[in-house]
Amino acid sequence: SSVDPTLRTGYHFRPPRNWINDPNGPLYYKDFYHLFYQYNPYGSVWGNIVWGHSISTDLINWKALTPAIYPSKPFDIFGCWSGSATILPGDKPAILYTGIDTQKRQVQNIAFPANLSDPYLREWVKPDYNPVMPPETGLNSSSFRDPTTAWYNPNGHWTLIIGNKRDADNRGMALLYRSKDFVKWVRAKHPLHSAKNSGMWECPDFYPVALRGKLGLDTSVIGAGVKHVLKMSLDLTRYDYYTLGKYDDNLDKYVPQNTSLDNHSGLRYDYGNFYASKTFYDPVKLRRILWGWANESDTPKVDSDKGWAGIQLIPRTIWLHRNGRQLLQWPIEEFDTLRHKHVSVANKLAPAGGLFEVKDIQSNQADVEITFDIPNLDKAEDFDRSYIGNAQAFCGKNTAETKGGVGPFGLYVLASSDLEERTAVFFKIFKNGNKHVVLMCNDPTRSTKREDIYKPTFAGFVDVDLSKAKRISLRTLIDNSVVESFGARGKTCITSRVYPAVAIGKDAHLFVFNNGAEDVKVSELNAWEIRKPEMNQEIIY
Ligand code: FRU
Repeated sequence: SSVDPTLRTGYHFRPPRNWINDPNGPLYYKDFYHLFYQYNPYGSVWGNIVWGHSISTDLINWKALTPAIYPSKPFDIFGCWSGSATILPGDKPAILYTGIDTQKRQVQNIAFPANLSDPYLREWVKPDYNPVMPPETGLNSSSFRDPTTAWYNPNGHWTLIIGNKRDADNRGMALLYRSKDFVKWVRAKHPLHSAKNSGMWECPDFYPVALRGKLGLDTSVIGAGVKHVLKMSLDLTRYDYYTLGKYDDNLDKYVPQNTSLDNHSGLRYDYGNFYASKTFYDPVKLRRILWGWANESDTPKVDSDKGWAGIQLIPRTIWLHRNGRQLLQWPIEEFDTLRHKHVSVANKLAPAGGLFEVKDIQSNQADVEITFDIPNLDKAEDFDRSYIGNAQAFCGKNTAETKGGVGPFGLYVLASSDLEERTAVFFKIFKNGNKHVVLMCNDPTRSTKREDIYKPTFAGFVDVDLSKAKRISLRTLIDNSVVESFGARGKTCITSRVYPAVAIGKDAHLFVFNNGAEDVKVSELNAWEIRKPEMNQEIIY
C-alpha cells in the first residue's frame, strides 16, 4: 500500500505506514531503548491491534522490528491492547498487557522475552497459564484494561494498577493488584484511587518523583523524599489528567494533595491532542520520560487514503517543579542533535498590532524558542472570573485576531505568505486583583483552507508570577502537520494537528505577532530547521 508523504511528520515517532495509537511498554534493555505501540498492520484506521515494536539507542533514530505481541492464543485472539513493561530482578523484562479473549472479555496477560541474549527482544512468549488477571465476577469485562508497570512494595509484594469503571455511578478507578511471584495476582479490596462520574480510566500510570531536581526515580522508589503521580486518560473527555500526592505503602493507598479530579479539573500533561501516555524510567540518564500519542484531526476517509494515521509526540523528560504544584516537561536533550540551519533574532520589538516574519529557514520542520519581555502590564484587561478553570472556553471565543490589552502575542506557524493560513500559538495576560493570569492558547481556526477538518482550539493557564520578571518563554516544535508547544519552560504544553492546503514544505512561513494594545519585545528568538532522523524505514527480522 502506498503512503502520501505531503503532510506526514518526519521526526515524530511513527511506523512505515498504517494506524498507530497508544505507546506501550517503553523500556531500556542492554543498550537499546524499546518502544512498543498499538498498531494496525492492515490499514490506517483502528483495528486488528498488535504491539508494533521499534528500537533506538537515542530515542530519536528508530529501527522497526516485526510486531512483538500479536493475537495467537485464546486469551488474546481478538486483540493485544495496551500494557506496560516491568524490569524484574536480574534485568529480566516482563510485559503485562490486555488481551481480548475468545469471549471478547478484557483480560490481563503476561509475556516474557523468548531469548534474553537478544538485545532486540524480538520474540515474546505468552505462557499458557494466561490470563494472569481475568475479570472477576462483579467487574465489567469491557472496562478492565491497561495494566501499569509494577512497583515493588517493601512489605514484600509487587503492586500494579489496572484501569476500570464502576458502571453503577460511572466511577473511574485504578484497581490494585498484588503478587509475590509476578505470576499469581490478587486484587486488593480497595482501589488505589477512584473518582465519581469520571468514567473509564484508560492507561493509568503511577510513579514517584523527587521533591527537588530533574533526576527521575525508578518506579519502585518509595519514601519520605518523594511524591507520587497518578495519571489517567479519561475516555469521557479524551485528555490525560494527573494528580500529585502521597502513596502510603503500608495501606497501599494514594491520597492526592492540592490537586483533584473533580469535574475533570485535574492537571494536564498537555492541553491539546495528547492521549494514552505512559512514562518509563531511563536508567542510563537517570530520568523519567513521557511518551504520548496524538491522533489525526483529519477525516478517517482521508487518513485511509493517505495510508498513515497517528504519531507519538517527542519524548519528554518529566520532573516536579520545585513549588511542588505541578510537573515540568521538556523535549529530551537528544532531540537537539537534529537541530540544523539556525537563525536568531534579539531585542526586536513586536509592536502593538504588528508582526514580523522569521526568515532564512524553512520552517515546516523546525524548533523555535522565543522569549517575550513585556515592558508594561498596565493595559492588561480584567480577568472575567467566569473563565476560572476554563481556559479553553475563553480561547474558543477569543482568537489570535481578537484585539486585546496585553496580548494576544505569539507565533504564527505553518503560515501561508498572505497569512490566509496560519496556526497561532499565543499568550494573553489579564489582571485579577493585584495578580496576573496568564493564558496560553493554540488557535488552529485558520490553519487550513480545507473545510472538512476538525480544528479544536486548545488552551491552558500558565502558573507564572509576572511580578518577579515580566517575561515569558515559548518553545514550539513544528513537523508538517504537528504543532507541539511548551510554554514557560515546560509548565504548560499544548499539541495540535493541522493540515494546511497552501503552507506546505517551502511554502510554510513563520511569524511573530502581537495583537495586543501594548508593545512586547522579543528579547531572544532562536529557530532551527530540524533534520529527519532515521524513522522506522526498514523492518529488521
Ligand atoms: C486507549 C485505548 C486503551 C486500549 C487501547 C486499544 O487509547 O482505548 O484503553 O487498551 O487503546 O487499542
